[in-house]
Amino acid sequence: MRIIRCANYEELSQKAAEFVAAQITLKPDCVLGLPTGSTPIGMYARLVEMGMDFSEVTTFNLDEYYPIKKDNPQSYHYFMTENLYSKVNLKPENIYIPNGETTDPAAECKNYEKSILACGGLDMQVLGIGQNGHIGFNEPGEMLNSYTHVTKLTQNTIEANARFFNSMDDVPKQALTMGVATIMRARRILLLASGKSKAHVVRALQGSVIDPEIPATILAAHNDVTVIADAEALGE
Ligand code: GLP
Repeated sequence: MRIIRCANYEELSQKAAEFVAAQITLKPDCVLGLPTGSTPIGMYARLVEMGMDFSEVTTFNLDEYYPIKKDNPQSYHYFMTENLYSKVNLKPENIYIPNGETTDPAAECKNYEKSILACGGLDMQVLGIGQNGHIGFNEPGEMLNSYTHVTKLTQNTIEANARFFNSMDDVPKQALTMGVATIMRARRILLLASGKSKAHVVRALQGSVIDPEIPATILAAHNDVTVIADAEALGE
């Protein structure tokens, strides 16, 4: 695992954008796995400013709340449209995001996983990290050999994400998420961590002990992981 230390959020965003841009330059028709949350917002803004050519790129989003309407401003569908899709030349047919409006979530998850494979697998998966160490919405204590599935959010995640909703009651209680095994199959992984609230999970990440209570620690078993973290997340 390689750790890139950044002084602050601005530097983290710049480095992360350069990393993704380099992937697109190396392989213009690459398949990217993309995250939501507050951490990657700066990275998306820099990628847009760089004027990267996304015309041959395919993207798969990590997760989506369930159930949620696509036009709900808190949906990840809405987030991605605002921060990236509407601002770069990605082809609509090359954009995949789990459908939070589906009436058959199990079939949606199965098809999502099939689509990733049909596109040749993920060249690079970009991740944020939850305060409890979740990646995507793979919560502590869940199976680590999972593919895309429906999951129940933990109380900790509902509380952490309530800041984006009017009230805690408005936070959906479930999500559709790539599984840990889906993420681990990506050929390269980039994880972004910013702020004091991530310091304890970033510390755990740097050890080589895999702890199912901190799902991100599984990344120790992947051979191409880069963590870009700011000083606060590194506890400095
Ligand atoms: C959500 C997402 C995660 C993300 C996490 C952290 O729970 N499902 O993929 O990593 O939030 O968000 P933030 O970057 O806002 O701390």
